Amino acid sequence: MTSQLFFLVGDSPSTARPVPVNVEGKFDDLRRAVALVLHVAVPQGLSFHKTEADTDKLESVQDVWSAAGPVAVRVDGLAVQDPQGPPGLPVVGSFYEIFPDHLGNHYRLFRKYGHVIKTVNMGKTNYLSDSPEVALVALSESAYFTKKISENHPLWGIKDNTAIFIGDTETENWRLAHKFIPPSMGPKAVRHYTPLMQECVRSSFPIFDELDSRGEAWNVYQFMVKLASQTIGKFAFGKNLGHFDSVEAPAHPLITNIVNMLSLNKKVTARGEWYRSLPWGDSAKLKAVQKTVYAQMKEAVDDAPSSGIANLPFGEAATRASCVADYLVNAVDETGSRFPEGLVLSNMIVITGAGYTTTSALMSWLVYCIVTYPDCQDKLLQELIDYGISPSTQWTPELAHGLPYMDKFVKETQRLHNASFQPGRTTKTEVILPGGYRLPANATVIPALYAVHTNPEHWHDPFRFDPERWDTNEVKNDRHRAAYIPFATGARGCIGFNFALLEVKVLLSELVYRYKFAREGLEAVEYDPEFQLIRPLNFIVSKMTWTPSTTGSRPVAVLGAGVLGRRIACCFVSGGYNVHIRDPSAEARRAAVQYIDENKEAYTKHLPATTLTKDHKFGSYVASELIDTAVKEAWLVIEAVPEKIELKIDTMAELDHKAPADCIFGSNSSSFKSRFMLDKVTSPERRKRICNVHFTMPPKIRTVELMTDGETEPGVFPFLTEVLERCGMLPATAQKESTGFIFNRLWAAVKREIMFILAEEVSTPAEIDKLWRHMFQAEIAPCRLMDQIGLDTVAFIEDNYIQERHLNGAQTVDFLRANYLAKGKLGLKSDKGGLYPSASAIPSPPLTIVGERTRANSPDHSQDHKEEPALYFLDVGFGGNCKSFSDVSTNGKILRRDPSTGLISTIVSSQPAPDGIDILGDRIFWTNMGRDVNARDGSVMSSKLDGSDIQTLIPEGLVTTPKQMVAVASQKKLYFCDREGMGLHRVSLDGKEHEVLIQRTSEARDLTKWCVGITVDVHNKKVYWTQKGASKSNQGRIFRAGMEIPPGQTAETRSDIELVFGDLPEPIDLEIEQETGMLYWTDRGEHPRGSSLNRGFVDGKKEEIEVLARHFHEPIGLKLDAERRQVFVTDLGGSVYSVDMDNGAKTVLHSDDGCYTGIATVSS
Ligand code: HEM
Repeated sequence: MTSQLFFLVGDSPSTARPVPVNVEGKFDDLRRAVALVLHVAVPQGLSFHKTEADTDKLESVQDVWSAAGPVAVRVDGLAVQDPQGPPGLPVVGSFYEIFPDHLGNHYRLFRKYGHVIKTVNMGKTNYLSDSPEVALVALSESAYFTKKISENHPLWGIKDNTAIFIGDTETENWRLAHKFIPPSMGPKAVRHYTPLMQECVRSSFPIFDELDSRGEAWNVYQFMVKLASQTIGKFAFGKNLGHFDSVEAPAHPLITNIVNMLSLNKKVTARGEWYRSLPWGDSAKLKAVQKTVYAQMKEAVDDAPSSGIANLPFGEAATRASCVADYLVNAVDETGSRFPEGLVLSNMIVITGAGYTTTSALMSWLVYCIVTYPDCQDKLLQELIDYGISPSTQWTPELAHGLPYMDKFVKETQRLHNASFQPGRTTKTEVILPGGYRLPANATVIPALYAVHTNPEHWHDPFRFDPERWDTNEVKNDRHRAAYIPFATGARGCIGFNFALLEVKVLLSELVYRYKFAREGLEAVEYDPEFQLIRPLNFIVSKMTWTPSTTGSRPVAVLGAGVLGRRIACCFVSGGYNVHIRDPSAEARRAAVQYIDENKEAYTKHLPATTLTKDHKFGSYVASELIDTAVKEAWLVIEAVPEKIELKIDTMAELDHKAPADCIFGSNSSSFKSRFMLDKVTSPERRKRICNVHFTMPPKIRTVELMTDGETEPGVFPFLTEVLERCGMLPATAQKESTGFIFNRLWAAVKREIMFILAEEVSTPAEIDKLWRHMFQAEIAPCRLMDQIGLDTVAFIEDNYIQERHLNGAQTVDFLRANYLAKGKLGLKSDKGGLYPSASAIPSPPLTIVGERTRANSPDHSQDHKEEPALYFLDVGFGGNCKSFSDVSTNGKILRRDPSTGLISTIVSSQPAPDGIDILGDRIFWTNMGRDVNARDGSVMSSKLDGSDIQTLIPEGLVTTPKQMVAVASQKKLYFCDREGMGLHRVSLDGKEHEVLIQRTSEARDLTKWCVGITVDVHNKKVYWTQKGASKSNQGRIFRAGMEIPPGQTAETRSDIELVFGDLPEPIDLEIEQETGMLYWTDRGEHPRGSSLNRGFVDGKKEEIEVLARHFHEPIGLKLDAERRQVFVTDLGGSVYSVDMDNGAKTVLHSDDGCYTGIATVSS
């Protein structure tokens, strides 16, 4: 090892110092060795040159060693230099070059004097830098730098070596504080304070609401101080500071005193040492206020709630402590030692002060940015909606930090408006900084955070507020690691940043979700140059332009009491909102109220647990004829008046006059954008509260699509979303105006493409439907649905899209019109069929192709959303729900399944083995098999639909085992089979004129003669019945005969009996689809052919019987619902099913341990 002489370019060669050189060593090691001797902070920046003037580098250790010397050393290619700065005036120094806008002035001075500048200010010398390289070095505790609060340091006025932040690093106190305090603010600890943040911000809502209702503008900083310190008060010492007890509630004295203390300190330090030592004025005030703060903090710490964590290791204690004070007093380190008692108060003051002064300023700047920079507020709100935030959201760190736009927005705000701006460090020795700047020992260097964050060499377009920059590679991945340091960095960097970031994200999310902020006045927002932190002092927001309407007991008015109107009303009633229905028709009003009476309970099935609490109450409801009465106090009006645009325009105008100013108007229209209804609504405020609120058909289809009228206040949507969710609905918001909202557009696209496919002759409706059903495992098929809706309507709707989007209709509507509409093929409503041929046009379809048939023409078929029928079905009483065998013969029941809720209620109980049921008008008719199948103890009964007024039509003693029953309205007759009695009977609805139509035999127990199921083909005057044969015997048969006994013959001798199908496993109940002549029957024979639902044309062949659905558990009852293309089936296994008539898809509607037989339906 030998040595070489080195000197810094910029100094005289005579200052060269010897440095040992290991010729075998690495170049970087040589740099480090030279840097150490010459006090260069970053060795990697050194280059070696033969002479001062020589810019060529000596590239190897060998070259350096063998150079003639002394070797010239450059730092970052530059000569060393003393930092420059503005020439100072006597006494005040650079004061007027810097203040009052120190941020702007420093930025300017960096451009003028370089990346490190020297300012002398009222006798204080500071070195400031806008360079990330310098910041990184200066903020690292090292051989050159430390946080030592000397006379030149910004914190000199409040220096206190017993406390973190305001004490020197190289003290035992800081070591202890730095060991104990950070865990109380680490990510794990912060997680358990998340609910506290949420609770604090929500407690502020009544105050902001009140300010808004008073129409008062308010100073953001003042209220953010209240909000942030309310949160920090809870976090630091578990105290409710009462900041939101009322609008006028003052900030807690501890909080105001801390602000005073900081403010006085800044004044005192800015004016220099002479000012600080004055025994009066600000200096004296500062000392006095410090004393008061100590006393107040002592009280707060003494009163802090305890969580029983005494002597827990600090890692665990931090996650269980009630607050930081609780933690600091009780937690122990690995040696079992506690944090020194004498240090608690000073550190608590610092934590409190550092906690709320920073976060209140940041919150203020965040609000400033959302009202100042376009779109930010809307984007933040949109993100919250997209992420499913609602007023009942329980915040977690994952949720808050998982909001990408929020994250970028906070970062960009901190970049340009960071509260902290001057973390100071002190040099331990003379040191050469990156860029070659030389600082003397004991100098105060300050990375000027604002200038670092706007340094044009590191930030493109630095003053542009652009949250999206955080997604660019340049910023996200390539930026210098100290180019963005809002919380400083290094050992003395912020320890509260986890808390701060989570807090501001939760608080801001909650505020943005609830309010819309607007700036009041055009006055430039100023910050206070004399304060430790940058905070917007004169930033005022005006009343929020969107305030949710107060709901309380005010009603939701529903205009229109029709099928949909009454359902909309019922949703709100069951969600707990009072409702006022308005309809000019007395009958509609009566029906609506009755509907709610009967269904409100059932609607609660869809309510979320947060609504359906223990003390959940229904809203009240009333219907009136007058619009004035209905809307005069309403907070929301849903208009469901007929789809005529003129009517809707007039309705909106009338509402505008008659409803309260804050009332929201929702149009239930699906065909008209709410924008088109505004012709007579001129007030911009009102137009902000109008939108589409399109319900589909609750409770079965609970989607509600919301859409703007183009001017709707964005806050209306989350507000309504929350209300609707509370009512069990599934709201979705179209973010822009859109013909067809969201779902109808999807549906339009499907229809359009189907037209293309057909026009190009690529496929057929049946094939399209087959693929669709299978692909989407769906019951509904698109071509069939188009027929149901009507092809003329399909064309009409598509015309709108063609017009709006300038589409070419040649292959769609033109094709449809030429090939279908012009030929009278409109779909189900026409007898010529639609995409599918009409029922009558189908000759005798091969039964194995499911989906090729169509249902019969019926005037009602065009109803899109007709609700499912209520199901009345029989529990024969033998199931697991019968606790004792001795009770089986009286355990039979009539049950009702509510179509909208699926809830089952008992209508009639204690029946002896009921088996057949049918309904006519408002009465139920049923058969009871009786207690003994061989005794003549069967009966036929009747009651009202609600189970009242039970009458016996055929008493015991006349029939043995009456089975399936069918009521024929035109004849006012009931037909039923008597199984063990082996015949078919008929009786009038009042029980009179009981006659036996067919008597197969009078010989006992010929099982092949047992008559079970029955159906009547009224048009063709035929009756069909099953004779099931012995159990699982494959002897089952289906017969038919005329409805009347041929003249001159008897029930026993009649000769008109025909076998329709034979050799069936074990057919039970049956029903004929009159229009098509298709017979459907259940079969409880052996699997796989038995235990099935079957069908066959009455004039078809046995080979053409189709097993429509299988694998029931002893199926018995069935009921066709041709209109909705489904068959309801019951089985003894305790289930009720619906089976798709077109594809056999089986859906379990209800299942329990009952034992089900007959089934009937009632449509609403
Ligand atoms: C937006 C919010 C915040 C910002 C911008 C911020 C910024 C900073 C900065 C720049 C420092 C370094 C100061 C220096 O070097 O002189 C610091 C230190 C500190 N911060 Fe924060 N801070 C914030 C929130 C908080 C919160 C909420 C707490 C506690 C509840 C907190 C507690 C502290 C403490 C105790 C230190 C001193 C650490 C030490 O001296 O070792 N800060 N903060």
